[in-house]
Amino acid sequence: MTRRKKLYEGKAKILYEGPEPGTIIQYFKDDATAFNAQKKATLEGKGVLNNKISEFIMTRLGAIGVTNHFIRRLSLREQLVREVEIIPLEVVCRNIVAGSLATRLGQEEGAPLPRSIVEFYLKDDKLGDPMVTEEHITAFNWATTQEIDDILAMTLRINDFLSGMFGAVGITLVDFKIEFGRVWEGEFSRVILADEISPDSCRLWDTATGNKLDKDRFRRDLGDVIESYAEVARRLGIMKDMPTVIQGGLH
Ligand code: C5P
Repeated sequence: MTRRKKLYEGKAKILYEGPEPGTIIQYFKDDATAFNAQKKATLEGKGVLNNKISEFIMTRLGAIGVTNHFIRRLSLREQLVREVEIIPLEVVCRNIVAGSLATRLGQEEGAPLPRSIVEFYLKDDKLGDPMVTEEHITAFNWATTQEIDDILAMTLRINDFLSGMFGAVGITLVDFKIEFGRVWEGEFSRVILADEISPDSCRLWDTATGNKLDKDRFRRDLGDVIESYAEVARRLGIMKDMPTVIQGGLH
């Protein structure tokens, strides 16, 4: 037996070399961090919930033609994904004012936006993930103009689909963050959706009560973090697939 090779350890996930060339194993940890890792905790069961929720969302997106890196789930905390050349951007899409948009521009949290806003942030912990414009992205070769166009089109499509999907189960998609990667086919490259989509990377509000069902419960010390992630899974109809140990403590 040989130990599998760890390629990268992030705040919430570990990436291991996959079983075949061009594949990677994405392992979901229970660790939660916020404010550029100044706040840390371990939330038992988070990795299992995010693995399952992200699998569900990526599969649904794949079915409507949003190409993404998900191949299949391997275990409670692991999924097999396609290896991509990471584009070093965090792409945020917003439907309602919240979080950094509210604080940075002095806008009231909860106000609907007249149209969805897409923002780009450079993935760089040392710099605190600064916001960047399309000019910065092309000037420093993080992505080409064509890739930015593709990213924008895919982001808006993902937003439309996920807003409808969550809306149907009484959840308002306030905003979310996604990441993209490049895959090569001969001399040509294509941009595909990568990373994860989960309550760690989205703001999800209960449409009826306004209750937060996402990572803001951790960031803002609101309690019931895991219960809220489980509620998202339950509404999406995937809680029944969870191990009894996770279902047990929750309702
Ligand atoms: O903090 P901010 O309001 O800019 O976050 C916008 C969205 O992006 C939120 O859904 C948040 O959870 C997500 N996000 C993330 N990872 C980051 C920054 C933001 O998933 N590093």
